[in-house]
Amino acid sequence: MIDLSLKKNGDNATAAFATDVNYGLSQDQKSLPSRYFYDGKGSRLFQKIMDLPEYYLTRSEYEVLTENKETIIEEFAGEGFFHLIDLGAGDALKTKILLQQLADRHSAFNYIPVDISVDAMQQLSNSLHTGMPEISVQAIVGEYFQALEWLQANKTGRKVVLFLGSNIGNFKADESRDFLCSVRAYLQPGDKLLMGIDLHKDPDIILRAYDDAAGVTAAFNLNLLRRINRELGGNFDLEQFRHYPLYNPQDGVMRSYLVSKKEQEVYIRDLRKSFHFAAWEAIHTENSHKYTLPQVKELGMACGFTLQSVFQDNNHRFADVLFSVEEDDNRKPEGISDDRLIKD
Ligand SMILES: C[S@@+](CC[C@H](N)C(=O)[O-])C[C@H]1O[C@@H](n2cnc3c(N)ncnc32)[C@H](O)[C@@H]1O
Repeated sequence: MIDLSLKKNGDNATAAFATDVNYGLSQDQKSLPSRYFYDGKGSRLFQKIMDLPEYYLTRSEYEVLTENKETIIEEFAGEGFFHLIDLGAGDALKTKILLQQLADRHSAFNYIPVDISVDAMQQLSNSLHTGMPEISVQAIVGEYFQALEWLQANKTGRKVVLFLGSNIGNFKADESRDFLCSVRAYLQPGDKLLMGIDLHKDPDIILRAYDDAAGVTAAFNLNLLRRINRELGGNFDLEQFRHYPLYNPQDGVMRSYLVSKKEQEVYIRDLRKSFHFAAWEAIHTENSHKYTLPQVKELGMACGFTLQSVFQDNNHRFADVLFSVEEDDNRKPEGISDDRLIKD
């Protein structure tokens, strides 16, 4: 089943996109939110990225989950029914390893993938219906927090939350803490969180993963401008912008930009506005934060989680970290006020 009830209706979604584009392109340092990468074409390009030889992240996490699936399932499935909530599920390529293991051991659960991409959720629902018909699936199209809020109101029972693929890395440092603390606020003792983390490593390996030789990541980044053209009536000339990735090994953040190759004006019809680009002016489009294991442990603990287990690939490139919520942890996490618990 695919639940579109949380999806903003077409007009509202386009209005939110327009507002975010207008805000981002009006700043002194221009930016666009990375969550808009994933329209139909963006989701397909991301699937190609996952297959690239340079993109070690998917292969590493695939290895972690394949090698440790029995232990992971043992640690989080426990006894009795639970909801498996997959935040930003995408095509769930790696989640399917865990789903198969759960199905093989006849665990009582239902699978609730959540994603803002309607295309991704439709494809995933269809592929699970055909490939794993024994699993009960309710795909939700919506933002992370909309979905968590809805789940809290509508689904009682134990919850295991997956946040795979280093999705946490897309937040800025303070946002990742807010995000994790907000997730924690929706959970109860006995609930778990399994989170995929990209670890610090040779900067060249990281940089290559975001600057592949075939140019698929460049096309993925530039597709954001194509989406503005299509959905908001923009006139970006994609030939006049280039993808530029930059890794900072001190703060561990991989940043992606779109750089204007010349001085130019871009008109966006739905905003009735032109935006001026100086030659070589950049739009910041994505952060991908790399972590050390102590940083991850600290992040979880700051939000009232207990670190239960850490699983890594053989090259120590990627980790999946299992956090639990213990009885004693049942308190509101520090440093987060009520009005920050719900985000759009
Ligand atoms: C990097 S992909 C990871 C997919 C998958 N979890 C994996 O590990 O391969 C990120 C996914 O998160 C979704 N996403 C990004 N921001 C989101 C948000 N704010 N709310 C819900 N989904 C979001 C995107 O549509 C995309 O499918």
